[in-house]
Amino acid sequence: MLVLGIETTCDVTAAAVVERFDDGRGRILSNIVLSQVSEHAAYGGVVPEIAARAHVEALDYIIAQAMAEAKLRFDSIDGVAAAAGPGLIGGLIVGLTTAKAIALVKEKPLLAVNHLEAHALTARLTDGMQFPYCLFLASGGHTQILAVRGVGDYARLGTTVDDAIGEAFDKTAKLLGLAYPGGPLVEQEALQGDPQRFALPRPMVGKPNADFSLSGLKTALRLEAEKIAPISDQDVRDLCASFQQAIVDVIADRLRNGMRIFREHYGSPTALVAAGGVAANETIRRVLNRLAFEVGTVLVVPPAQLCTDNGAMIAWAGAERLALGLTDTLDTAPQARWPLANVMSRVPTSSDAVDADSPMSGIA
Ligand code: KG4
Ligand code: ZN
Repeated sequence: MLVLGIETTCDVTAAAVVERFDDGRGRILSNIVLSQVSEHAAYGGVVPEIAARAHVEALDYIIAQAMAEAKLRFDSIDGVAAAAGPGLIGGLIVGLTTAKAIALVKEKPLLAVNHLEAHALTARLTDGMQFPYCLFLASGGHTQILAVRGVGDYARLGTTVDDAIGEAFDKTAKLLGLAYPGGPLVEQEALQGDPQRFALPRPMVGKPNADFSLSGLKTALRLEAEKIAPISDQDVRDLCASFQQAIVDVIADRLRNGMRIFREHYGSPTALVAAGGVAANETIRRVLNRLAFEVGTVLVVPPAQLCTDNGAMIAWAGAERLALGLTDTLDTAPQARWPLANVMSRVPTSSDAVDADSPMSGIA
């Protein structure tokens, strides 16, 4: 089964073709990703209007490239998938409308994919993971611990009550005068910094649940920086190292609880799977590895280009849904907010109550 996938939820315009075999294995035929980072860099974050326009300008070409690289015509594919949420509504409209147009003209099934579900299922494409596994998803827009029990069967074990981890890295970078996106730069600075120099808080540590809260950490870091202003290059390194250490300690504590909750409800996970841009951080990976070992499982991290936003993960989630007959109608509406718990086996349509104007905190 061949599926075209389209991703436009945030600042990446992407399209890919993926094949899913009857035995559940998958293969990527093409995966074209265009990052808009340079267009947003000057603003220190993603500007929704600029993102939507950039998607409009690039998407047709990116899809054509994905089809050409896969050496396929639209007639030979079995379905068209697009991320229908959560994300910035302008981009979602561009991607989903384009998918609908192809589905309508070529008489192919439409798959309106939840972007988080796509992150959650990627490890089945890359590593043939069997259910159930524990997913740690940490990107610029999301921080979640999930039990992935089956296609459309997800339980959220923990989430952030304010900032996402990647967002906290980006805000820290901005505060310290580093470029956007700041995660990789904070990690680099931290390499030569002293993680003990600043006593930053470890929010939520010790609480029995598996939730995160990171905005207090960001504020504490700002106060420390203000106390010693003007800050030197070494101060920046020490602040980055202290911040990263606080995050790592928080992740270890929260995920330990998340894995415990997983075991209590669903038994042993087949793996701890990490996804999202933050999973690229070496120090964070080390702690994930240790945690997995501690609870007697293994850490699985898909290749970096499939951990961050891409079209292959959307195509794959579409293929997994198509294999179960979970197709969507052409009146399916995009949703800026769309929690995974609402995914299940059907996607809401425009006749459901959808608040498309809600704040766009749900970007992925
Ligand atoms: O998944 P992703 O590529 O895009 C979305 O957010 O959708 O994640 C990007 C986020 C950014 O916040 C970025 O700063 C963070 O992941 N990130 C990192 C690292 N690389 C990327 N955070 C910490 N350490 C890194 N090495
Ligand atoms: Zn994402």
